[in-house]
Amino acid sequence: MDALKRQAAARALEHVQDGMKLGLGTGSTAKHFVDLLGEKVAKGMRVIGVPTSEATRAQAQACGVPLTTLDEIDHLDLTVDGADECDGALNLIKGGGGALLREKIVAAASDRMIVIADDSKWVDVLGRFPLPVEVIPFGLAATQRAIVSAFAQSGVSGQMEVRKAKDGHVFVTDGGHWIVDAHLGKIPDAPSLAGMLSVIPGVVEHGLFIGLARTAVLAGAQGIRVVERR
Ligand code: A5P
Repeated sequence: MDALKRQAAARALEHVQDGMKLGLGTGSTAKHFVDLLGEKVAKGMRVIGVPTSEATRAQAQACGVPLTTLDEIDHLDLTVDGADECDGALNLIKGGGGALLREKIVAAASDRMIVIADDSKWVDVLGRFPLPVEVIPFGLAATQRAIVSAFAQSGVSGQMEVRKAKDGHVFVTDGGHWIVDAHLGKIPDAPSLAGMLSVIPGVVEHGLFIGLARTAVLAGAQGIRVVERR
């Protein structure tokens, strides 16, 4: 699986040109991309990156990839990031690693987003992977009731739980928020649910990435498949 992730990352790297401003994703697949990018930089390629998490920032610095922020530049040419699920419209579930907020800000500031993944992430309908919803701890129960109501309006339901870190404490995002993971099974209308979640006070962001990815690079046992959004 790890070899497939690296293959997808290597294919995405072919889209990187000298001088580009890049969004650097988070997760085990994006980590390969940052690694390979670091090798290119060591050989003289000039790029500058905006990391989507503190983990990616640390990795990029260790790999020698120059970094900047979205306050210092006005747009990014390309973001390369992983995903937890990707459907045929290239809508995504992201946030399994907890970096969804910065990932979405960075993807939205990019001219183009390429998703890299092993082909197990490809699904007919989003929702098998628990949907991460980043929330403010204040008023959590009220926010969760509003989320349940949005789910009901969208025709979905399922258990929700506040994400815990490995040490058993509540997982805290880079932005200082919490994450509620919703086990929905299937999300028949992801764009509609995304819209409903976005307007709930207390929801900082959610893991539905709608219309952001333009290209998906999926690596499988049979080779690499590149899917462009129609
Ligand atoms: C991080 O918050 C996520 O959005 C990741 O991009 C996603 O979980 C994919 O991670 P892997 O590449 O580790 O599967």
